[in-house]
Amino acid sequence: MAHFNVKLVSYISRMKNSPLILDTKPVSYFIGEGALSHSSKVLENFTRFIILFDENVRTHCLPILREKVPAVAMSDVICIESGENKKNLDQAVYIWNELTRLNVDRDALIINLGGGVITDIGGFAAATFKRGIQFVNFPTTVLGMVDAAIGGKTGIDFEHFKNQVGLFVDPVSVIIDPIFLDTLEDKQWQSGFAEILKYGLIIDRDLWRILYGKKYREIGDLNKVIIKAARDKIDIVKHDFKEKGIRKNLNFGHTIGHAFESHFLLSGHPVTHGQAIAAGMICEAWLSCQLFEFDPSQLDEIVEMIDANFQRLDVNESHIPQLLNLMRQDKKVRHGKLNFSLLKKIGKALHNVEVLPSLVVDSIKYYINT
Ligand SMILES: NC(=O)c1ccc[n+]([C@@H]2O[C@H](COP(=O)([O-])OP(=O)(O)OC[C@H]3O[C@@H](n4cnc5c(N)ncnc54)[C@H](O)[C@@H]3O)[C@@H](O)[C@H]2O)c1
Ligand SMILES: [Zn+2]
Repeated sequence: MAHFNVKLVSYISRMKNSPLILDTKPVSYFIGEGALSHSSKVLENFTRFIILFDENVRTHCLPILREKVPAVAMSDVICIESGENKKNLDQAVYIWNELTRLNVDRDALIINLGGGVITDIGGFAAATFKRGIQFVNFPTTVLGMVDAAIGGKTGIDFEHFKNQVGLFVDPVSVIIDPIFLDTLEDKQWQSGFAEILKYGLIIDRDLWRILYGKKYREIGDLNKVIIKAARDKIDIVKHDFKEKGIRKNLNFGHTIGHAFESHFLLSGHPVTHGQAIAAGMICEAWLSCQLFEFDPSQLDEIVEMIDANFQRLDVNESHIPQLLNLMRQDKKVRHGKLNFSLLKKIGKALHNVEVLPSLVVDSIKYYINT
């Protein structure tokens, strides 16, 4: 069992009304309103750009990028189809074909403009093409901005397994500008919000205090919240890129949450990642209460906040055996043991906590019956 809760990234510069700039080698981050305008600092080292996006991003975000970042306005583009089920080998092959057709060489920079699907598959395609082309991430979803674009995990789904093929490779830079979020669908906001709540719970009590009592579309100072959440992830992955220790804390809510996500996908009624993780966080906060001195009033606070933002999932006790089976198939399960990242208190997590299946069952019953 290990725990950790410390800010590791040095503060580089933040002028009033300008984005936060973190030059944490090898990745530089520009975070917050105005970040797009600062991206020229990164781009000036390159002479050729290829922009990758999906059809929704082409409509809503590409015009903004072209207007705010003139250096890339005339660049070659690759458009792929949107959706998690398109984060696959066929689309990676399509990107490699396009890069070949466009005579892209290793001096070029790939610009991944989009949500987590684009930054995952775009990073993977770039890192494998001609043994590696550099790339930058311009996330356009809440989830992308606070999670997927940061931390160097790239990849594709394969044979029905999520993120089965991929590699850890950092982008040159991540440029996080909330300017893109105006057009995001409601359910995507909600999904990203679950991850923001998670940072509050595992590492950032101050963030939890800011969010507590709010609804996901009424956060107030969104810029500040995105900056805080993104920085929380940067702090964690900077210290543990390959997920040997503290990075596992990011899995809070995910062991049971992923099982919910797969269960509803298999049943033909998919829920968003955030909806599943929100439910998983209720179960795993309850587990934290059973196993540690986690304060029950904090559990009530978490349940109240999640219920105010997410509908309960339609699960009943007959689903529990399948949920347990799904948990056992999870990549994070080693030697058949169910491993969790749990909470010691709000703002502090622990990882590598082994939990008996019977207690996991009880945590799902708690979710169903409260
Ligand atoms: N690499 C990591 O560390 C990491 C972490 C978390 C999640 N992920 C991955 O991220 C993916 C999910 O990412 P996501 O939730 O961003 O989904 P997504 O990329 O599928 O985007 C969601 C939808 O929003 C659309 N969209 C994107 N930006 C928009 C905008 N500004 N306006 C309007 N529509 C827009 C997209 O076209 C898509 O239809 C999953 O594949 C997951 O595995 C990766
Ligand atoms: Zn997640």
